[in-house]
Amino acid sequence: MTDVHAPMQQGKLQNYNSARGANAYKADYRNKLHRKLSDKRERALLERYFAEIGPVDTILDLPCGHGRLSDFFKERCKTLLEGDWSFTMVSLNQQDNGNDHRHYVRASALEIPLPDQSVDVVVSFRLSHHLESQELREQHLRELFRVARKAVIVTWFSATSLKNLLREVRVKLFGKTRKNVLRNQRVRDVAAACGFEQRQAKPLFVVGSGHVLGMFTRR
Ligand SMILES: C[S@@+](CC[C@H](N)C(=O)[O-])C[C@H]1O[C@@H](n2cnc3c(N)ncnc32)[C@H](O)[C@@H]1O
Repeated sequence: MTDVHAPMQQGKLQNYNSARGANAYKADYRNKLHRKLSDKRERALLERYFAEIGPVDTILDLPCGHGRLSDFFKERCKTLLEGDWSFTMVSLNQQDNGNDHRHYVRASALEIPLPDQSVDVVVSFRLSHHLESQELREQHLRELFRVARKAVIVTWFSATSLKNLLREVRVKLFGKTRKNVLRNQRVRDVAAACGFEQRQAKPLFVVGSGHVLGMFTRR
């Protein structure tokens, strides 16, 4: 596999793939207040979404990073598959969380090495906004829907979020770079074309974040 399989801005990708970057990401969630708050809110929403989905056998968490949500997912399935493009993230995760009913794989979320409908729930948190073209962001969504038998839970950066609207002003006035966004309606359209229906789409926070956590179930 090459970087073509993980087309994130090269600096960022190298950072996640380095021991320093992977450990720094892990430390952020222990030390930084905004990270702790977003982690708490994500877990609260996930709790609700999984209650709606009901019991499942298998969950794929891709990208899993250092395994921030590994224990949460493990409590909700019989077998958890943890995947990430970064070898370093995968091994840090395995070192911290062990192999009991958990499997680890180095994989790209843009070409998931699993058959159609082979996992009950596919979760993909905090990747979409790193993918640098609309085409890749949609390819990512289609891969998740292809592999999921029952449900997909995915985050994206919303084009209509307050945070993005303010960014667009700064793009026009100060030449700032654009965010890697998706329109909520476009996400619903891609889901529908793959046989899925949106059940939930809650903002992480209305102010201060543009991330949306969506939950989709197969029709
Ligand atoms: C912001 S972290 C999110 C990790 C985890 N989902 C979380 O919420 O804590 C982004 C992760 O995406 C991984 N990544 C980047 N491109 C990828 C790709 N194409 N496929 C799979 N993982 C990728 C990085 O290595 C990094 O671990």
